[in-house]
Parts: sequence; structure tokens; C-alpha cells
Amino acid sequence: MTQRLLVRDLAQLATPAGREAPLRGRALGEVDVLEDAFVLCDGGTIEAVGRMRDLPALGGEVVELDGRGLCAIPGLVDCHTHAAFGGDRVEEFSLRSGGASYEELHAAGGGIRWTMRATRDAGEGGLRAAVELHRSWMLREGTTTFEAKSGYGLDRDTELASLRAIRDAGGIPTWLGAHAVPPEFDDADAYLDFALAEVLPEATQLAEAADVFLERGAFDAAQARRYLEACRDAGLALRLHGDQFTESGAIPLAVELAARSVDHLEATGDEGIRTLASSGVVGVLLPASALFLDRPMPPARRLVDAGAAVALATDFNPGSAFCESLPLVCSLAGTQLHLSPAEALAACTINAAHVLGRADNIGRLAPGYSADITLLDAPDWRYLAYHLGGRVLARVVVGGELR
Ligand code: NIG
Ligand code: FE
Repeated sequence: MTQRLLVRDLAQLATPAGREAPLRGRALGEVDVLEDAFVLCDGGTIEAVGRMRDLPALGGEVVELDGRGLCAIPGLVDCHTHAAFGGDRVEEFSLRSGGASYEELHAAGGGIRWTMRATRDAGEGGLRAAVELHRSWMLREGTTTFEAKSGYGLDRDTELASLRAIRDAGGIPTWLGAHAVPPEFDDADAYLDFALAEVLPEATQLAEAADVFLERGAFDAAQARRYLEACRDAGLALRLHGDQFTESGAIPLAVELAARSVDHLEATGDEGIRTLASSGVVGVLLPASALFLDRPMPPARRLVDAGAAVALATDFNPGSAFCESLPLVCSLAGTQLHLSPAEALAACTINAAHVLGRADNIGRLAPGYSADITLLDAPDWRYLAYHLGGRVLARVVVGGELR
């Protein structure tokens, strides 16, 4: 017999409407809201949601949680993090605060390569501890599912150790084998020869997707294509970091290769918006990264109005977004991206689940979905975005278990 859990007398329950994914256009803002509501979980699955007056008589043993004063939303899904890293970049942050630019520090051998050295030095034990710690921070912010990328090892052993650490911490691993060129290689092509021959065969056993940093100073479109095609042929889903600083061809490549997502988009112009909107590729918006680097925000409103499917994520990493909070990202979506709370909710639940290939299972509060629930200490679920940096999280339920 599985345990049943009843979360009762909730002030509100809010969930993306319908059964479709990804949501776009008007459907992105359609949220079902029930007042005075309940969620009933049977083991790891949602059995029923509804209004208290419609709660059926429940036989057998049921654990009850008093939801008075709380709002239930689907467990938040962070579909873009770099949680597997050693050390920090607090020194770089101080330099940037004094005026140095992220790109300058990167070109001078700091940035990603700085974290690469600290990640290699951490060893497998250190990496496991780091991912566990970062996961606990995310859970504290209401994230019940997280993706995390490798990409700070850039050698065989550290890349594979990163993917194992992510998997064993309950995360969904993405092999970011093309993040930067490590110093032991003369150029990007020589590094890719190595990565595709020596790392991909085992990375494909651990990761679900592959990702590339397509950008001036990282990998160009031809190199990204070579990397992604090899990863696709090995069975991995595809993601891209694109249009962060410059438009370098990420959107057309993502559409051509039927990638799951292209992420960042701070530099995307009108044609990119049109191309993405008429495709099945999701645009993953990372406003905490734009804020942290003092860069322009992505054209989120224009993307949504053009019909693009968008998701929101933290981009949690030590250099460009030391932020694990999806509620804060939802606030930025409201104030900086001009997305409504309803659009933000769908973007970091059902649409993020779609990016991770899990929209049938997570991202909604509806019968048959995984019993992942984020409970907000608020009278209205829109406090998720409204309470800027506030302590909005009350509790989470993960797989039917209270955490
Ligand atoms: O998504 N842009 C590339 N990669 C990461 C940041 C990496 C870093 O600065 O350590 C990002 O922003
Ligand atoms: Fe990123």
C-alpha cells in the first residue's frame, strides 16, 4: 500500500491549464486557479485536485497537511543550471563590480577557465558535495526538478565525474562538452576531436542532452554543428547557449537540428525572433544572468507575442548568475521581461518540463502527474513573482513526500 497525502484547505491552487506542452501565445498565460482547494497524492502521483467542497470521503490511512494560508503551485522546474563546479568567482565579482567586463576577464584566462581549474582540483568527492549543496539551495527555493550541466571539467575524468555527481544528486545531466577550450589544446577543433572521441562515448551513458556555448571567443557555428551532430547521432537531445553577447547563428542551427532549446537570447533581433517563433525549439530566458552581468534583457515580450515557446531558468553558476532562486527569476520576468505572473509560472513549470522531455509527468498539478508541489506562504499564488526576494516558500512535496 502506498502512502496517501492530502494537502487541504489551501488558500489557492494554481496550475498551467490544459494538457498541452509547450504552451505558447495566449495559452502561455492560461492558469487554472482554485480557491479553498486540496491536492490528494497517492504515493508519488497526484490522484486528484479540486475544491474542498468537492473532496470525496477518503477511506484508509491518509496523512494530512494543513494548507491554510498557503498556495500550491507545481514543483518548480529549473531547466538550465551549471551546478557542478568547484570554488567560486567572488574575486571576479568584486572586479566586475569595479568596472571590469565579463568578456575581458574571460579573454584574460579568468571566467570559465578559472572555474575549470577549481573544478578539476575538487575531485569527484568535492564535486559530489558541491552538487548536493547546490541542490539543497534550489530545494529551499521551491525547485523540485533540476537540470545541471557539466562543462567546467573539460577533461575526460572531470566531465564524467560531473555528470555522475549530477545524476546521483537527483539532477538531470546535460553534457556541456563544448563550453570553453581548455588550455592544453591549441584550438577549438583540436579540443572537439578529443571530446568527441574520448568523452562522448561515456557521456552518452550518463547525460540526456548535449549543450554548446556558441559565441565569439567560444565555439563558432561550424564547430557547434560538428559537436551537436555527433551528439545527436550518439542519441543525445540537443541544447545551445546562443545569442548571449552576439548573434552567431545559434537560432537557425537549433531549428535545423531540431534542438530542444536555445538559451540566453539577450542579443536576439527581429529575424531570430521570427525564426524561433515559427519553430518547435523553446527559447530559455535567463534574466538573472543578464542582471548579474548588467547586460540587456532578452526580448521576452516580443518572443511571446510572436508565438515562441519560452521557458525561464536560473542559469545558476559561479560566474554569470550566482542565483538559484526561480521565485526571484519570476520577479525579474515580471519587472524586466514584461511577462505576467501566469506566463512566468508556465515558463518555469510545464514549459521547462518540456525542455527536459518530461512534460507528460511534471510541471502541472493534475491527476497522473508526479506529486511535486511547491507551497507558497502567501494569500495569492502571484506572490511567486510579486514578492521581490521575499521568503515566499513554505514547504515542498517531492514525489509525494514532504520535505
Ligand atoms: O550560461 N555562457 C556560458 N556559460 C555560462 C556561464 C559560465 C561562467 O561564467 O562560468 C552561462 O552564462
Ligand atoms: Fe548557462
